[in-house]
Amino acid sequence: METAINSSETQTVPSNYRLQAEDIGKRFPGVIALDQVSMEISPGEVLAVVGENGAGKSTLMKILAGVQNPDAGQLFLDGSPVHFQSVDDALNAGVALIHQELNLSDNLDVAANIFLGREPNRFGWIDRATVEQESQKFLRQVGLDVSPRLLVRELPIGQQQLVEIAKALSINAKVLIMDEPTSSLSQKETATLMDVIRQLRGQGVSIVYISHRLKEVEEIADRVLVLRDGKNAGSLKRGDVSHQAMVSLMVGRDVSRFYQRSAHQPGSISLQVENLRTTTWPEHSNSFQIREGEIVGIAGLVGAGRSELLRAIFGIDNRLGGTVRLGGKLLTAHASRESIAAGLGLVPEDRKSEGLILEMSVQENASLASLPFRAKWNRFINFQNEKEIYDEFAESLNIRCSGPNQLVGLLSGGNQQKVVLAKWLAMKPSVLLLDEPTRGIDIGAKEEIYHLVDQLAAKGVSILFASSEMEEIIGISDRVLVMHEGKITGELLQDQITEEAVMSLAAQ
Ligand SMILES: Nc1ncnc2c1ncn2[C@@H]1O[C@H](COP(=O)(O)OP(=O)(O)OP(=O)(O)O)[C@@H](O)[C@H]1O
Ligand SMILES: [Mg+2]
Repeated sequence: METAINSSETQTVPSNYRLQAEDIGKRFPGVIALDQVSMEISPGEVLAVVGENGAGKSTLMKILAGVQNPDAGQLFLDGSPVHFQSVDDALNAGVALIHQELNLSDNLDVAANIFLGREPNRFGWIDRATVEQESQKFLRQVGLDVSPRLLVRELPIGQQQLVEIAKALSINAKVLIMDEPTSSLSQKETATLMDVIRQLRGQGVSIVYISHRLKEVEEIADRVLVLRDGKNAGSLKRGDVSHQAMVSLMVGRDVSRFYQRSAHQPGSISLQVENLRTTTWPEHSNSFQIREGEIVGIAGLVGAGRSELLRAIFGIDNRLGGTVRLGGKLLTAHASRESIAAGLGLVPEDRKSEGLILEMSVQENASLASLPFRAKWNRFINFQNEKEIYDEFAESLNIRCSGPNQLVGLLSGGNQQKVVLAKWLAMKPSVLLLDEPTRGIDIGAKEEIYHLVDQLAAKGVSILFASSEMEEIIGISDRVLVMHEGKITGELLQDQITEEAVMSLAAQ
């Protein structure tokens, strides 16, 4: 196998590839994550890898970057076989991975995170000034204007993602793998990242780019590799890349049902928010209401205060003022347990810290309510049988796992998000607050989620749907509230809901 690859005289194939994976196999208990998967990337090429949740994308990337060992197959770097035993091995060879799930140390500052483990310490001590200076250079490159001394945990999740990208740039990799780098970035941040990628491509860096946002893929990819059920499903050259072509290779079925809404009449007012002030934006107060069976989108740029608003309504964050009523009943501030008992649900933005217990099984997570209140909740909620909940949602959301007892921490990113959703749907809330519920979710499952949301609305559930994806907001909402810097700047009704109208209220 190795001799075939080393034929450096022939200018045709393998030796021209920067990185090549051949017949990679990887099994986990109960799951074949990768089955004879092959891929290759040339210098200065952007290869997008797409596929449904659980298709094996992250697993393949972890193998390329030395995080995991393959059970079968072979990697070649510049035509020579390589066996990465660790992340450091891969890094030393010039292969760096930006993880799908953020991998930063919360308690360290931005600069320390960027240089973690590689501090310039030639003289035996960490040269803090250099670290900060260098960090700033990479932060500027990704368009992030924060002090390198800020603790990472103080940053919103989108900015943490940019720190992660800055960290990867600082490595000067030959092959840079980005596993869903834009899932929590704003449009502007995404555009900056696209520029960074083009720049790196111009310098001959090979970039592997994973995203569920097919528009981005169309924009940036030189070639697209599609994985399906752990296997190669096909590959598309630049000219052949289209939304439809990718979807049909990924899903193998028609997903044009997207955003289909059933006709329904809103009922009486279910949630009433009056003069609500959050701690992040104390100078603004917001008022609005939702009716039974309404789907109200909350649009805005990243950092517009959507999550803060939802968290203050729900009672995770304290309120500085104002009232929240559910079915006419006043909800006490900072008492999410009470909110839940009254029929309010919140699917939070950050599933890892707020949504799931990674060390528990899929079934347990799906039948839990939210983390901090778990033990006390049983008094309030009439739980369905754990197994019933699992059966219902594993099927309707198509959660890909080896079974009800698999640990949630071992699921693919998108499947984890589905478990968070299942958990809240199982509680049958009368008002459901969704904060970026389809982040990291593949196109087929997104359709399932829109369908579910529509069904819930048809049953009279009120839904507040915060999202950064314009298309989704426009497609799903009966009405849209647009936020800018902590304030609801406008409301759009049905046929007023257009991209331009949303943007002009969001950007001000
Ligand atoms: N450490 C592990 N132990 C057990 N199963 C695992 C492990 N890592 C991944 N899997 C399983 O392997 C399959 C592929 O997962 P992977 O994370 O590669 O998917 P993905 O294509 O990245 O999906 P997503 O779009 O949701 O991120 C999934 O069924 C997942 O549950
Ligand atoms: Mg993944």
